Amino acid sequence: MSRIVYLNGEYLPEADAHVSIFDRGFLFADAVYEVTSVLGGKLIAFDGHAVRLQRSVDELGMNYKVDMDELLDIHRQLVERNSLEEGMIYLQLTRGNPGDRDFVYPAQDTTPTLVLFTQTANLLNNPKINTGMKVITVEDQRWARRDIKTTQLLFPSMAKMMAKAAGVDDAWMFEDGAITEGSSNNAYIVKDGKIITRHLGNEILHGITRAAVLKFAKSAQMEVEERAFTVEEAKNADEAFITSASTFVMPVVEVDGQALGDGKPGSVAARLREIYLDESLKQAI
Ligand code: PDD
Repeated sequence: MSRIVYLNGEYLPEADAHVSIFDRGFLFADAVYEVTSVLGGKLIAFDGHAVRLQRSVDELGMNYKVDMDELLDIHRQLVERNSLEEGMIYLQLTRGNPGDRDFVYPAQDTTPTLVLFTQTANLLNNPKINTGMKVITVEDQRWARRDIKTTQLLFPSMAKMMAKAAGVDDAWMFEDGAITEGSSNNAYIVKDGKIITRHLGNEILHGITRAAVLKFAKSAQMEVEERAFTVEEAKNADEAFITSASTFVMPVVEVDGQALGDGKPGSVAARLREIYLDESLKQAI
């Protein structure tokens, strides 16, 4: 079934939505994005994604002001028009089409391009919850402003392909011996009951799921340490997991061929997934 997508104020069948070849999103990856999950036809953590979108826009000096009500309405219309029960809404905002190719940003009155579309996915019953994910580590070769959610996703795609070629599920990236994050998620280890994840900075995306999970962990009296951890620490962890809008909390059972703990999904990840889903579903809009 063809989707109804959103493009610059219009709802269109996907085959009728066209963006110019001069759009800076296409030519320069001059674009930011958000992925918001949908459960039971409701949006998870919408506000967090909208606030981060504005931050990305501001960091890049794009000419766009997030209108929370308007953006919420677009998300809801897409859910309704596509009868989306479970999956994601992808949003991309580019600096627009200046009508030519030029490294210099176009004038501030160039209209940005805003695209949103839905994607159906089995988020709650992802089979990896039971088996856990296996990851390899690869050097982080992305640009230095990973806190801005841009569409420059070629290296993360390459890292995923390296993981696929190695017969595992994902790649965790490292820099100066320390893990930054997963190819499209934040990375955590658990050692002696303590949850360890990299501190915020320009080196990682400030995950919306990360913020919620750490808040819930702290209110459940779980010990959290936000600091860089090494590849060696990851391989010797008791358990590990990732978080993102599309995976929530997902256990990791193997790093670079080394099984963690008993090689099965850990109890901390399971507990956090349960708390995260309970709380997020209560607050879904
Ligand atoms: N990825 N780190 C990176 C590099 C990511 O791409 C993502 C999200 C996250 C987790 O952020 P959040 O919890 O806000 O989803 C961390 C999305 C899901 C994607 O690119 O599809």
